[in-house]
Amino acid sequence: MSTDNIPTQLGIAGAVAVLLFLLRRWSSRSTLRNIPGPPPQSQWTGNLKQWFARDGADFQRDVSFNYGPVAKIHGFLGRPILYVADPKALQTILVKEEQVYQETKAFFAMTYLLFGPGLLATAGEKHRKQRKLLNPVFSIKHMRHMLPIFYGVLHKVRDAITMRVSDGPQEIDMLKWMGRTALELIGQGGLGYSFDKLVEDGDNEYGRALKHLQPTLQRINVLRRLIPYVYKLGPAWFRRMVMHYFPLGQVRDAKEIVDTMQRCSSEIFASKKIALARGDEAVMKQVGEGKDIMSILMKANSMASEADRIPEEELVAQMSTFLFAATDTTSNTLARILQQLAIHPDTQQKLREEILAANAEEYMAYDDLDALPLLDGVCRETLRVFPGVTNLARTPTQDTILPLSEPVVGTDGTVMREILVPRGTEILIGIQGSNGRKERWGEDSYEWKPERWLSPLPKTVTENPVPGVYSNLMTFMAGRRACIGFKFSEMEMKVVLAVLLSNFTFELTDKPIQWNISGVRYPTVGKDSNVAQLPLKVGLYKKPTLQ
Ligand code: HEM
Repeated sequence: MSTDNIPTQLGIAGAVAVLLFLLRRWSSRSTLRNIPGPPPQSQWTGNLKQWFARDGADFQRDVSFNYGPVAKIHGFLGRPILYVADPKALQTILVKEEQVYQETKAFFAMTYLLFGPGLLATAGEKHRKQRKLLNPVFSIKHMRHMLPIFYGVLHKVRDAITMRVSDGPQEIDMLKWMGRTALELIGQGGLGYSFDKLVEDGDNEYGRALKHLQPTLQRINVLRRLIPYVYKLGPAWFRRMVMHYFPLGQVRDAKEIVDTMQRCSSEIFASKKIALARGDEAVMKQVGEGKDIMSILMKANSMASEADRIPEEELVAQMSTFLFAATDTTSNTLARILQQLAIHPDTQQKLREEILAANAEEYMAYDDLDALPLLDGVCRETLRVFPGVTNLARTPTQDTILPLSEPVVGTDGTVMREILVPRGTEILIGIQGSNGRKERWGEDSYEWKPERWLSPLPKTVTENPVPGVYSNLMTFMAGRRACIGFKFSEMEMKVVLAVLLSNFTFELTDKPIQWNISGVRYPTVGKDSNVAQLPLKVGLYKKPTLQ
């Protein structure tokens, strides 16, 4: 063969390779186009406005339930976005090929800026190392020791609400109370720090910063999308100076909030470090008496081998991470439970009787409280039907094939048993779609029925399990990045309900409650109010006197 031909041959080979690449990309994109889903609302923004709108709950339900376990919506300029609730596909994305399907760059950049290099902001080896150290800290063994802290907080909440309703039933914003309760529970149980005396209507600096974080971020929603491009621009002092003099007040507010959270976390950390160095007696004098998550974590880190130890900066970052991840999620779920119990007074009374019969108000050991069947059913059913986080995004870092448990019929009638997904495709993990599928949970799957947990679950659920860490549900996600605090959260909810239902009754008011779409769903009175709240009529429960 003549060597003169080599450049020509290389050129042809290169052109064929590019052609094959483009063909593969085109064919995979056209596979995505063939997936059923609602038509785009706009040529420019596809279905994005409908999906992210505050009142987008009906649209999200439509996509979750009316097109099958895999559906498609449209992003910018009609770019396909996959909505996935198929069990095998979820297993592949979140467990089997977790390294391929990553959180978006924008997510990592944002969480890093807000909380530092904690669990939410790290990936790969760094994240694995943090989880290795943290998983045992969240074990049931430690949760058992934490229960007295939870009860202590709830008894204060009980006394505070009693003061407000002692003259007769009152309308009370139970979301606000659940927010204060969840913050104090993660404060004492997570950080060994008290935010709120739970008597007066006051709050502290850290609590205030945390409360304003979500609304402030909501107001700079569009600018936030630039973060991945600018967050490593220049040295840290330069970025801080730009933020300090930024012409938009909301951006300066966001910086103030982050600064406050970081300063407070560092102060709490420093005082814990001193106490740990002084020994057990000093630790016992701290809030949480050394049984809180941060104290256990710091101790575990100091005893870990050098290879497993994580730097101080990463320990401090976990504090804001826990506070952020633990408060809105738990408080909104608790508000939803109370609202459901007000809508279903018979279930409210049955649950109260179960709790009173077990004497769970003052204190109950972890395993006994965990075993109360209706209490467990009410928590699981609320987390199933009303997951606070309805969906989360993942993006494959390479072209890949997504296998399915059941075939999807394309819009052109083609039957697909797997889907070719191009690199960079946005995938929405269908938490709501998976938790509520009729094919899995039966014809009444959309209804809130805690009793369904009192008998064995249908075979359609147990024989085709989803990878979720909790109860055949996707509410706390799955795999390496699943919620680390789900047991903590479940125990919080059970102690809150044990104490509140032993003392109070909850009824609906005549105000219309709307649940809004956001990172975590939240209630308002009507669809126009900007104030997150759940007013309920709260009265004292008169316990029957013993004969
Ligand atoms: C009802 C309450 C809760 C819900 C619905 C919930 C839900 C979730 C979900 C869906 C994720 C996955 C996020 C993602 O993949 O991007 C997550 C992660 C996380 N959650 Fe929760 N959560 C709750 C309560 C808590 C509590 C009480 C804590 C702490 C005590 C906590 C700490 C975390 C942390 C640290 C992560 C990040 C885990 C990692 O990336 O390794 N969560 N949570």
